[in-house]
Amino acid sequence: MSEPSNIVWHNSIVTKEDRGKLNNHKGAVLWFTGLSGSGKSTLTVALEKELYDLGTHTYRLDGDNVRHGLNRNLGFSPEDRAENIRRIGEVSKLMVDAGLVTLTAFISPYRKDRDKVRAILDEHEFIEVYVKCSLEACEERDPKGLYKKARSGEISNFTGIDAPYEEPESPEVIVNTEQLSLEKCVGEIVDYLKENGYVK
Ligand code: ADX
Repeated sequence: MSEPSNIVWHNSIVTKEDRGKLNNHKGAVLWFTGLSGSGKSTLTVALEKELYDLGTHTYRLDGDNVRHGLNRNLGFSPEDRAENIRRIGEVSKLMVDAGLVTLTAFISPYRKDRDKVRAILDEHEFIEVYVKCSLEACEERDPKGLYKKARSGEISNFTGIDAPYEEPESPEVIVNTEQLSLEKCVGEIVDYLKENGYVK
């Protein structure tokens, strides 16, 4: 897509840094990636509550929800998934600019698409959280009955079955939802955020 012409950026007087001072913390994106059923949504919901209790300003963006609205015109081809992630990346960037700790829960199966989001954010604003869980365990959980449908051929291009999932190469955080409880996984992410000065 070409760059917009005849459009000039207009700066605010109040900056991202000013908003951070007011909030008493910086904005960042916690980018959860993993297979369907790995626990991304469950984790972001629980983590958001913990962060709220610590006085953090947050917002959660979730694949299933965003695909009802902003991205309702997109399907699951590689091109549509790339556009899904591009839009969420841009929305996340706006939210970080607004000072929020933004939690996103999208399969985001392609490394290239995730890396593009990392690239549009400033250093330390993109925290990739790999929600690790084997395909077997996700399929066993099958909370929405979609793996069953994918196996029977009722739906196609399903991640892990007939569409790829590319694991992150160097995520900031890995949580193994197959081995650890929800509380433990949330605790590990909170520890990372405290150790790295994102939350007090
Ligand atoms: S992404 O690949 O573009 O990042 P996203 O996270 O927005 O996917 O949406 C994934 C959700 O859509 C899944 O949790 C599942 O509920 C539903 N879904 C429907 N069809 C598919 C499919 N073919 N592949 C993966 N998820 C699907």
